[in-house]
Amino acid sequence: MKILGIETSCDETAASVVELTGKGNLKLLSNEIASSLDLHAVYGGVVPEIAARSHLEHVNPIINQALKVARTNWSQIEALAVTQGPGLGGSLMIGVLTARTLSILHDKPLYGINHVEAHVYASFITEASEELNDYALPDKQPQFPILALIISGGHSQIVLFEDHFKYQVLGRTLDDAVGEAFDKVAKIIGLPYPGGPSIEKSAKEGDAERYKFPKAKLKNPYDFSFSGLKTAVLRTAQSEIGKDFTFPSHKLAEQLSKKQKVDIAASFQKTAFETLAKAMGKACREHRPKSIVVAGGVAASQELRKILSGRLSSEAIYPDIKLCTDNAAMIASHGAFQMQAGKKPADPYRLEFLPNLHMRQ
Ligand code: KG4
Ligand code: ZN
Repeated sequence: MKILGIETSCDETAASVVELTGKGNLKLLSNEIASSLDLHAVYGGVVPEIAARSHLEHVNPIINQALKVARTNWSQIEALAVTQGPGLGGSLMIGVLTARTLSILHDKPLYGINHVEAHVYASFITEASEELNDYALPDKQPQFPILALIISGGHSQIVLFEDHFKYQVLGRTLDDAVGEAFDKVAKIIGLPYPGGPSIEKSAKEGDAERYKFPKAKLKNPYDFSFSGLKTAVLRTAQSEIGKDFTFPSHKLAEQLSKKQKVDIAASFQKTAFETLAKAMGKACREHRPKSIVVAGGVAASQELRKILSGRLSSEAIYPDIKLCTDNAAMIASHGAFQMQAGKKPADPYRLEFLPNLHMRQ
């Protein structure tokens, strides 16, 4: 059973074909991505209008490319899956309208997918076609109950999946997502967007013990709050150059020394990752999952993987780095399990895009 996935929730226009094999394995046949990242980098963050325009330009070519790489034609596609939310309204609209049109045109069932849930489904892909032999995939699919840490630029949450589509959100961020905090801190110290990879690189040269940043203490031990940490970085940077809180953040980078910057990057990164590790360690002890999955753009960090491996009851499963950041394979994967479970597809004349879609509590 082959499923075509389409993802346009943020700055990546992506399409992918995955195949659910007879043995129940998920095989990756294509994973095409056109990113508008470079267009946003000069602004230090994603500009919604630019993202939407870029999706409009790339969505059809990327779908055709995904079919071509997968050596698949429309008659072999069993269903379509598209990101319904959460995300940027204009961006989601283009993916959803494209998928609706294709679903009607080719008479294929259509599934609307929750992007945050789908991040976890990237870890169910355990095989790839010969052409995609550079993917580092897990040996076997995660087993339920699954404890999932979903961390990206838009989301940070700990979710316990008892089964497919049956889950409990144990905690989530009360303000900034962890990736968002990386992006903002990178901006303060003058590193390029996206902040995660540039902070990871810079932190390698820094002293993670130099600055003691606070860790938020919250009523629910599985909730997160990263905005206080970001503010603490800002205040530290201001005081390091002898200025008070009125000093504008966009002028800090030019005044900080290289040493101060790498030490801030390392200390911030350590604090953020230890916060995630502490909550996940506790959740593991309390819920004793069979598998642990770490997914989303921030899961690409090798440093996070190192810190987590010392804190968890068993080795976590990570999707390949190309499947951690936004992609359509995770969307197709989620769609494949929905179809296998006999879930009712959406009405292609009505499927709405939902910018504020949440995972159910
Ligand atoms: O999943 P994703 O591609 O998009 C969203 O759904 O948000 O995640 C992007 C986020 C960005 O905030 C980026 O800074 C972060 O993932 N990220 C990282 C790393 N690579 C990407 N954060 C920390 N360390 C990394 N190596
Ligand atoms: Zn995402």
